[in-house]
Parts: sequence; C-alpha cells; structure tokens
Amino acid sequence: MPESNTLPETNPLREALPRSRVPDPCAVVLFGATGDLAHRKLVPALFQLARGGNLPSESAIVGFARRDWADADLRAEYEKTLSKGAGADFREVWSQFANRILFSPGTFDDPASYEKLKETLDRADKTLGTQGNRVYYLAVAPEFFATIIKRLGEAGLIYPGHHESPWSRVVVEKPFGHDLKSARALNREVTAELDESQLYRIDHYLGKETVQNILALRFGNSIFEPLWNRRHVGSVQVTVAEEVGMAGGRGSYYDTAGTIRDMVQNHMMQLLCLVAMEPPVDLSADAVRNEKVKVLQALPRWKPEDVFKNVVRAQYTAGSMQGSEVPGYLAEKGVAPGSKTDTYVAIRLELNNWRWAGVPFFLRTGKRLPKRATEIAIQFRRPPTELFEPEADGLSGANQLVLRIQPNEGASLTFEAKVPGSRRRLQEVRMDFRYGTAFALPPPEAYERLLVDVMLGDPTLYTRSDEVESAWRFISTILDAWQQPDAPPPATYEAGSWGPPAADTLIAADGARWRRL
Ligand SMILES: NC(=O)c1ccc[n+]([C@@H]2O[C@H](COP(=O)([O-])OP(=O)(O)OC[C@H]3O[C@@H](n4cnc5c(N)ncnc54)[C@H](OP(=O)(O)O)[C@@H]3O)[C@@H](O)[C@H]2O)c1
Repeated sequence: MPESNTLPETNPLREALPRSRVPDPCAVVLFGATGDLAHRKLVPALFQLARGGNLPSESAIVGFARRDWADADLRAEYEKTLSKGAGADFREVWSQFANRILFSPGTFDDPASYEKLKETLDRADKTLGTQGNRVYYLAVAPEFFATIIKRLGEAGLIYPGHHESPWSRVVVEKPFGHDLKSARALNREVTAELDESQLYRIDHYLGKETVQNILALRFGNSIFEPLWNRRHVGSVQVTVAEEVGMAGGRGSYYDTAGTIRDMVQNHMMQLLCLVAMEPPVDLSADAVRNEKVKVLQALPRWKPEDVFKNVVRAQYTAGSMQGSEVPGYLAEKGVAPGSKTDTYVAIRLELNNWRWAGVPFFLRTGKRLPKRATEIAIQFRRPPTELFEPEADGLSGANQLVLRIQPNEGASLTFEAKVPGSRRRLQEVRMDFRYGTAFALPPPEAYERLLVDVMLGDPTLYTRSDEVESAWRFISTILDAWQQPDAPPPATYEAGSWGPPAADTLIAADGARWRRL
C-alpha cells in the first residue's frame, strides 16, 4: 500500500461539495472494472463527480476482474482512459482520485475471490475511511448477476436490508431478464440475498436530465397538465433513432436481443411512463414508481393477431450513411445467417385508462436511421372548426409540443400564426427552449446522477421489480407472437432511411405521419 493512501487530513475536493447531496463515505466495487462500460461511462462519471466535489472524500473505487493486477495496474489503465481529452485541472484531480483506486483480482463464481475482496474492502475502510458502506456495481453480462449476488451474500458482504449503517447496495446493469419468465426468475434469485430496497436496476435513460425534465415540465407548470389528456391530445409519438449499426463486435449480443429487448422494453417503456403517468403525491421513489407501474399495467393485452396489426418489425439492408456504404444487418459480424432479429420496431398502442383511452401512442426505434435523435412529440387536437385557410399538407392547425431528449436537449411548442397579408392564411411558428442556452451548461452525464443517487440511497431513477415485470409482460406478448408460424417475417429498410414503408402505413391509418427529424 503506497504511503499516499492514508486518509488525508484535508481534501480540496471536499471544499466544493454541495452540502445537500453529499453521499456517505463508501466503497464502490466495480465488477467488470476492465470492461467497456467501466471505461467509457462509469469511471469517467466517478472522475467527474470527484472533479465537481460530489464524491465523498472518504471513498474508494475497487475494481474486480480476472486479470492478475495490482492497484497500480488499474490506476495506470484508468489514467490512460481519463487523460484523453482531459482539461487543464486533470493532474490535480487525478492525484487525489488515483489514490482511491484499488484492485481485487477474482473470478465471479470463486468463493475465495470474495474473501480476497473482503480483505480489500477492509483495507479501504482502514486507509480511505469508507466506513463499511458498499456499492456493488455489476457491470457484467447478465448471466453473472445471480452468481455474484449469491457469492457476496455467502461471504457476508451484504448486510441485512434494514441496516441503515453501514449499508450495502447492488446496482445491476441492463438487460434485467430476457423475457417475462427469466425476469421473474432473476428477481426471485437476487431477492433471496437482497432486500428490494438494496437492489438498483439501472436504466441510464432515467439519469438523463432531459428525461427528468419531462416530470418538471408536466408537474412544475400549470399550463400543460390541464391539456395532457384524451380531450386535448390527439396522439403521441416517441422516437429513439440511432445511426449506429453493429460496430465494435456488437452483432453477436444484439442478434440474441433485437431492438425490442434492447431499446423498447426499457428505455421506450420508461419514456412512455413519464409522459403518460398521473401526478405522483410527491417525488419520493415509491410515489413516482407507483404511478409509472400503473401506466405499464394499462398497456394493451394483445393476441398474436393484434401484435401483427400494431407492431412492425424490420431489419436494415445495405445502404449509405453520410456518404459511406454500410453493410446490411445479415452481413454484419456475429449475426446468424438468416436471422430474423429486429433492428427496427414501430408500435401503435393505446393505454386502457381514464386519461388516455382512445389516444394512439406511436413508438419507433431503430438502428442505421439517418440520425441519432430521441424525442417525444405531443400532438394536440385540431381546433373544432376551420376558420382559416388550411396549410397545403392539410395537417396544419394542430399544436405540437416536442420534448427533445437528445441531441439539442430542450423543448419546442409549435402553433399557428397568421401570415402577414390580406389572406387568412396560417403558418406554423415555434417557441423553443434549449437546455444549454437557458442554463449555460451542458446537461450532466446520466451515470453521474445515477451513481450519486445509489450512494445517497435514492432509488427514484432506478426501476422496481414490478415495473420491470410489467414492461416484460407487454414485450413478451410481442415476442411470443413473433414466434408463431403465421407471424409475418421482418420487413426491410435501407440503412440510412427512416424505416420500412409498413411503419408509414401503420401510422397513416390514424391520419398521422411520422415526424421528420
Ligand atoms: N458497454 C456498454 O456501453 C453498455 C451499455 C449498457 C449496458 N451495458 C451492460 O453492462 C454490462 C457489461 O458490459 P461491458 O460492455 O462493459 O462488458 P465487457 O466489456 O465484456 O466487460 C466484461 C467485464 O467482466 C469481466 N469478467 C468477465 N467474465 C468474468 C469472470 N468470470 N470473472 C471475473 N470477471 C469477469 C471482464 O474482465 P476480465 O476479462 O479482465 O476478467 C470485464 O471487466 C453488460 O450487462 C451490458 O449489457 C453495457
């Protein structure tokens, strides 16, 4: 143990801490510390928290992976990752941060590795002042979740759920289950060792500032909520568009999941919940999550023929993206020959509840679409009579509120204004709010917020077991229908296009069309 690992008497990083959100001292154990997620998201988020003074000064980051490394090796590895494109203050923050990084080599299913981890954590308590508090972050493939939690329990590394101090919490990455049956089984397995209150199922979309802004916009203002229902809203569109295909060897994982599991079951269902939920009694974790679950419970109960009518699945074929030719899905590395995995899904659904009955919600998401964009568009109904000349496309006269989740985070409201001149002609105009301009700050990274929340013991932005299972119930109905012998095969769309014609037909049946992004 280097001398510098002894507890510092004063810590400059502490000085900037905003007092209201200072987590307890704790050790964050990264299972999968040498993996892609740790390098690209988790460690940079922890570093940013340290830089902003939002990581407790008595904290440790303990890496767990198979290679036979010492603390210095993991420090050197993270230094390489973090120093790329770092600001002028990098050295100063890094010198504090590096001392908190420890490594504990091990294999997920080996009990002896957890004894070693226990020793490393004891060392962190003694030298870094982490006071026995633990966050175990499972940045590993989902088949290891249950094993790791079981081994942690056996090694006495998980305290009973009612323990207020010291405490232990476990974060699990997505995907949580592969369908309803496996999600239920996993919930049963992990809660054998853990209380639900100790389990944090991550959906990083919920950590995005603009996603949380949906609740602020709806419930922090009085002008939107009276209109937020079937009387005034004609339809809702949720789009999550991605440009990427199967780069970085993603094909073999993706081929077993598809867009419906990778994007719809978690992120899109969460966006749907936030846009459609009733006001919670307060912003406590359970009050918010209770309302979200009710939205998922109001999802339609479809038979296979309803799925065939309301869901379009498709796969991209070769095409052109920003002037470069890209291969079709079936030619991507890791994709099984003849695979029917969906890379695009469009869904038309109605929620069976008082607020939304009869209002179509259109969801679409896909890979290899022309641009990366996530947004929610609330299409308000047209005025009851047509006093003015309609716009050429016949679709004018309705207001639209668009919440841009990424990029250009913000919101815009379109309304009709009279074109100057003697005719009674209208033209759509727009009021725009841009997050970056209004607050002069880019929104923080989702993982920063989520990591602070788990250290604080606030699970509001994490998904509860009943939320996960209710979302899977809906998705499993679709997956089961696609397994039927009479299921239509996936449609195709050219890479770089906005999806298959069948998706346009789906939305056109309601007299609507997909927004041009
Ligand atoms: N990458 C992303 O952007 C992303 C985004 C969202 C969710 N996720 C989820 O995050 C999780 C991790 O993804 P990833 O992309 O970071 O995976 P990855 O790059 O394959 O990393 C896996 C990590 O687990 C360690 N590991 C594997 N088998 C082990 C074993 N038997 N014992 C001990 N350590 C073992 C590996 O370390 P060694 O080889 O050094 O042992 C490595 O550190 C997955 O659940 C994924 O779905 C990832």
